[in-house]
Amino acid sequence: MNRKLWKESVVYQVYPKSFSDSNGDGIGDLQGIIARLDDLKTLGVDIVWLNPIYASPDVDNGYAISDYQAVHPQFETMADLESLLDEAHRGGMKVIMDLVINHTSDQHAWFIESRKSKENPYRDFYIWRDGKSGREPNNWRAHFHKSAWTFDVATGQYYLHTFSPQQPDLNWENPKLRAALQQMIRWWLEKGIDGFRLDAISFISKTPGLPDHVGEGRYIFSLPNMMNGPQYHAYLRELNRSVLCNYDIVTVGECIGLTVESAIEVSAPEREELNMPFLFEHSDYYVNFGKTPEKLKDIITHWQVGLHDKGWIGLAFNSHDLPRVVSLFGNDTQYREASAKLFATLLLTLEGTPFLYQGEEIGMTNACYNSIEEFNDLSALNYYREKIAEGGDPQVVFEQARRISRDPCRSPYQWNSAENAGFSTAKPWLGVNQNYGEVNLENNLKDPNSVFHYYRRMIAIRKQTPALIYGSFERQEAPAELFVYRRIDENESYQVVLNLSEQEVRFSTHGRLMIANTEKPDAEFLQPYEARVYRLTR
Ligand code: GLC
Ligand code: CA
Repeated sequence: MNRKLWKESVVYQVYPKSFSDSNGDGIGDLQGIIARLDDLKTLGVDIVWLNPIYASPDVDNGYAISDYQAVHPQFETMADLESLLDEAHRGGMKVIMDLVINHTSDQHAWFIESRKSKENPYRDFYIWRDGKSGREPNNWRAHFHKSAWTFDVATGQYYLHTFSPQQPDLNWENPKLRAALQQMIRWWLEKGIDGFRLDAISFISKTPGLPDHVGEGRYIFSLPNMMNGPQYHAYLRELNRSVLCNYDIVTVGECIGLTVESAIEVSAPEREELNMPFLFEHSDYYVNFGKTPEKLKDIITHWQVGLHDKGWIGLAFNSHDLPRVVSLFGNDTQYREASAKLFATLLLTLEGTPFLYQGEEIGMTNACYNSIEEFNDLSALNYYREKIAEGGDPQVVFEQARRISRDPCRSPYQWNSAENAGFSTAKPWLGVNQNYGEVNLENNLKDPNSVFHYYRRMIAIRKQTPALIYGSFERQEAPAELFVYRRIDENESYQVVLNLSEQEVRFSTHGRLMIANTEKPDAEFLQPYEARVYRLTR
């Protein structure tokens, strides 16, 4: 067992724009986060991950960066970021930042130079190609846009963007670009940042020659040629050896298209790449196919067994890109608290570093927006504009855009029952969820049986129980409604029992109960969404 602090830590993702607004402009900011660090400490959080706070024209909420070494004025100043670091460190917490290095903003100085002329020294920082017979160089479709190429009149060539046209992809084949990124990363690490979440990192290496995707139609959305290319692991290793390995930090990659084998490649210590990638297969599955308990159990078992002793993974059920799991997989009305606590139990009893997303710990649900004007997310807005331009029916297109939109999980954090959920004294940049009168931190803190206190207790149990962090995973035979598994190490064995259904289910065990998400657990029956952890005698 290779013990590491980052394996034993609990990470809390802060979406700064929606967390806490200290200066009354409707947008969350760094002082807002500083003021709330004590609540995170109470919960048992070790590491805070901040979504991008860099200078940016804000087309994709910070994921198009115009200056890596500056703070976006909406979050206030670099001095505020430094005090956030100091305050977090004083409280024994670490801060990791989002590192968006597959692309920049089209407003970044590098791109402004790059597009000036074919001879510009920054030309090869990006990926430029001639068109083919008056069309795009190939048929790749982007996330958030129909083509992955945009024509630039100045030089008569197209540039590549995996995401929107305002997010041109960097050309990792250019060693000068890689050196410039390394220098920037070193600068942040010298400042005392404790690590990074590497955004969209699997896109840095494309299939050489940028071949067309095969299939019908002009713009084809098939990722393989756009990512996990032949240089992917070499680039990660170079980044590690040139910068990352010189610091005691945490690194987690947003590695799309991950398999157990590639997760081992990214995370096995001897490969010197990253500490861990995120697991996405479970969430990709339920986002696309809805509530699929059998599949969830299979996917989790596959990864737990496959990675044990070989690699490490970051685990999350919620993020700024996913619908809230209580709303999608649990039940966000009748069984909101029970299902929120069930996912807490699952998250905190698996092998892998747990990542909580703000609001999950108080049982926040998806917010509901009823018109396109209430949306902010460019993925939904671009989709809507595209389909309406093609003559789509506004109501139908709106419903489709609503399904794509990432806004429902980005609604402002619900602090209390005051106006705007206590998030801001001004109108928030994105609407608050209407259930804030009931679902808020203040109510959670007062009630010893709240979702918050359940997370707090569950986190404490995990930290005191090495078997829950490092132990092997063994799925047990159980009725279809249940997910039952054991976590076992040399000394101890624990049994986790989760009722993923809305039925009462009979169950018996010889274990000694450590925690349950119901007040009076019944000896024979589990309630809908009931979750329990037992200690077994060996
Ligand atoms: C990642 C981020 C997402 C962003 C995209 C482009 O997937 O999590 O929010 O839109 O990268 O940077
Ligand atoms: Ca503010």
